[in-house]
Amino acid sequence: MQDRIAIVGAGLIGRAWAIVFARAGCQVRLHDADPHALADCQRLLLENIGDLAGHGLITEAPAAVLARIKPTANLAETLEDAALVQENVRETLEAKRAIFAEMDALSAPDAILASSTSWLMASEFSEGLPGRHRVMVGHPVNPPYLIPLVEVAPAPWTSDAAVQRAHALYRQAGQSPVLLRKEITGFLLNRIQGAVLNEALNLYAGGYASVQDLDKVLKDGLGLRWSFMGPFETIDLNAPAGLLDYARRYGPTYRDVARGQQPNDWDDALVARIDAERREALPATELAARARWRDNRLMALVAHQRTQARDAD
Ligand SMILES: NC(=O)c1ccc[n+]([C@@H]2O[C@H](COP(=O)([O-])OP(=O)(O)OC[C@H]3O[C@@H](n4cnc5c(N)ncnc54)[C@H](O)[C@@H]3O)[C@@H](O)[C@H]2O)c1
Repeated sequence: MQDRIAIVGAGLIGRAWAIVFARAGCQVRLHDADPHALADCQRLLLENIGDLAGHGLITEAPAAVLARIKPTANLAETLEDAALVQENVRETLEAKRAIFAEMDALSAPDAILASSTSWLMASEFSEGLPGRHRVMVGHPVNPPYLIPLVEVAPAPWTSDAAVQRAHALYRQAGQSPVLLRKEITGFLLNRIQGAVLNEALNLYAGGYASVQDLDKVLKDGLGLRWSFMGPFETIDLNAPAGLLDYARRYGPTYRDVARGQQPNDWDDALVARIDAERREALPATELAARARWRDNRLMALVAHQRTQARDAD
């Protein structure tokens, strides 16, 4: 992949995007307004790229991948000739509006401008921009160099050509883009994650199971299948005659259960009880080490998936 990529914001997600595109062969410029963030990024990047190499997830020496990422203090220089500008500054509407105005003014007219925002809609921060037809959300999952999903969420005024170009660029970089046909807060992944969390909170609050056992329902149950197929394919295979058969057998029960489900308030007392069970299982001092353990488990899983035939889409 030959395209030049600009990454704006060199925090957790910006650095991870830089690895995605550098790993694919792109020249990447990585910008941050904070000189400390830029100064730190080479060391942090090398740590992550080294972990990938350790799991056989890159074929080159880590230094070769790192050499394609150029930390750049000047925004205009970062954006020069970029085919895609991926924005990763802090998650406030004001910050997104301000940086998109700058990116629109300084980038090449045909550059794609994509935001990593987790919750904001492109129409909220691009409405007044002359180049709003090339603005969209490209929401990654942390860290995108291990989890390939990208939610492409255009505003009503984003052109089809820009959406297709972004889709192609993400695919070429090894990601798995999905398209939101209409804007909605939280896109797809966080809405589905929110629905699962809502029910887990309610089941815990109702005294039905411990925090540990609710986590086990996913890790030793649903999650095993969900790492290679989604809920619709799951139910298609869980009745002898497929999805329609499943819906006839179990649909009415799911509907009755759903009618009884309520939004959880996430009240402080409930969250504190869940936190107490988590802290008993994992002291706060061990959180960072456990996060690194998680990333290594993910890498082992991704390495395994690479040995399996993957569906074309
Ligand atoms: N952390 C996650 O798990 C995750 C997952 C998906 C999407 N996101 C989204 O990615 C974006 C970045 O999140 P993060 O976790 O990397 O945050 P972060 O705090 O780690 O990084 C943000 C970086 O942006 C820099 N910055 C702020 N204003 C800037 C400006 N005007 N110009 C250039 N740089 C600027 C900061 O100095 C900082 O280094 C957010 O919109 C977030 O919602 C985060």
